[in-house]
Amino acid sequence: MTGPLRGPGPPPAAPEFATLALDRRRFLVLLGGAAAWTTLSPTLGWAQRLDRVPLQSWTLPESTPASAIEQTRALIAAAILAPSHWNAQPWRFELDGDVLRVVLDAARTLPASDPDQRLAHVSLGAALENLLVAARAWGLQPVAQHLPWGLSERRGAPLVAATVRWHAGGARRDRVLFGALAERRSNPREFEGRAIQPQSRAQMLAQVFEGVGIRWIDDRTAIRRVADLCHEASLATSADRRIAEERARWMRGDDGDARRRGDGVALERLGVDGVARWLAGRSQRPGAWLHGWAASSVAREVRERVRSSGALLLITTRPREGDARWLLAGQSYERLALKAATLGIAQQPLTGPIESARHREALLARFGATADEEPVLLVRLGHAKPVDPTPRRALALVSTYRNS
Ligand SMILES: Cc1cc2nc3c(=O)[nH]c(=O)nc-3n(C[C@H](O)[C@H](O)[C@H](O)COP(=O)(O)O)c2cc1C
Repeated sequence: MTGPLRGPGPPPAAPEFATLALDRRRFLVLLGGAAAWTTLSPTLGWAQRLDRVPLQSWTLPESTPASAIEQTRALIAAAILAPSHWNAQPWRFELDGDVLRVVLDAARTLPASDPDQRLAHVSLGAALENLLVAARAWGLQPVAQHLPWGLSERRGAPLVAATVRWHAGGARRDRVLFGALAERRSNPREFEGRAIQPQSRAQMLAQVFEGVGIRWIDDRTAIRRVADLCHEASLATSADRRIAEERARWMRGDDGDARRRGDGVALERLGVDGVARWLAGRSQRPGAWLHGWAASSVAREVRERVRSSGALLLITTRPREGDARWLLAGQSYERLALKAATLGIAQQPLTGPIESARHREALLARFGATADEEPVLLVRLGHAKPVDPTPRRALALVSTYRNS
């Protein structure tokens, strides 16, 4: 989309400004984004000096790969296309004999905003489900086993979240969802506000596994109340210095910067573009007022986007069920997101009120959920123009193979 991040230098040519339709809110967001970026740019500057990492292609083989090793590589390639919290891609895949282990990469988790690794496990679950969908579509019969921490955590050993085995032969299943693996996106745009048709809702909810809770709202007043909560939670998390610093490590100046690193979320995906990046190039030392103002303009933007949704969905598990259930929640979310893609429905996960411990209870209450539910993921659904794919670190960087 755009080239590398601009450093200080001449301002962009006038047409770039002329093409921007800037109403007051959009202008505030852009300027707020600039403030955020200038605040963070000293932390991010080093990223520009890194070499490019190899990227994973968004193309998958249509038919079953011939050899066992090609099958493994293709399955991992499908897993890698999964969504993840801040596009951190907290996964590794280890083939040991005929067992493929899905491993949590602790260096790619976000301890300040996700202290219990709930969102990292949702991301791993999404990757696991992509792998299983591809295996079924290729006529491989996969068997997955979830490994709760108690079983998998050994001192100094990597955290194995799940293992997968498969054997060839049998019916091909999940072909429709397979077709959506490379098309699914988290769509950060403002949605059109149109309602989701009941039959689409039914098809999406049918993807959710037993044991995972789903709450749905599409009443405008109820949506606005959740939007207000997201606004509050966004302000609360931005004011938390540890969370703000951690986010800075996963923010990328633009899509080009994200592609160079192979991960993270570009500012333009957060609603920050054009003018903001121009301002970012010229002010390296923002005053504190700018930082606070940036946080409030981002929070307002979050509220507007949530308000524009056709429906909101809350995925829950039971309290203290832990990581195996979060994995299943991630698998359910991914199937639902794939189904949404096949139906032309845009969706975006949101975690502000889940990252903010003091907003979780209010979130449950606004969805009419009970105290024996724990929120895992908030998802907004609606209709919007599609967005481009985001980068993924290549297979070679996240997989190891051993014949033992
Ligand atoms: C567990 C989880 C939490 C996420 N939380 C947010 C969020 O709070 N806000 C947001 O804009 N996107 C969120 N996302 C979407 C990711 O940013 C997105 O998956 C990632 O950037 C890759 O882009 P893609 O989903 O379009 O492939 C989340 C995704 C997952 C799996």
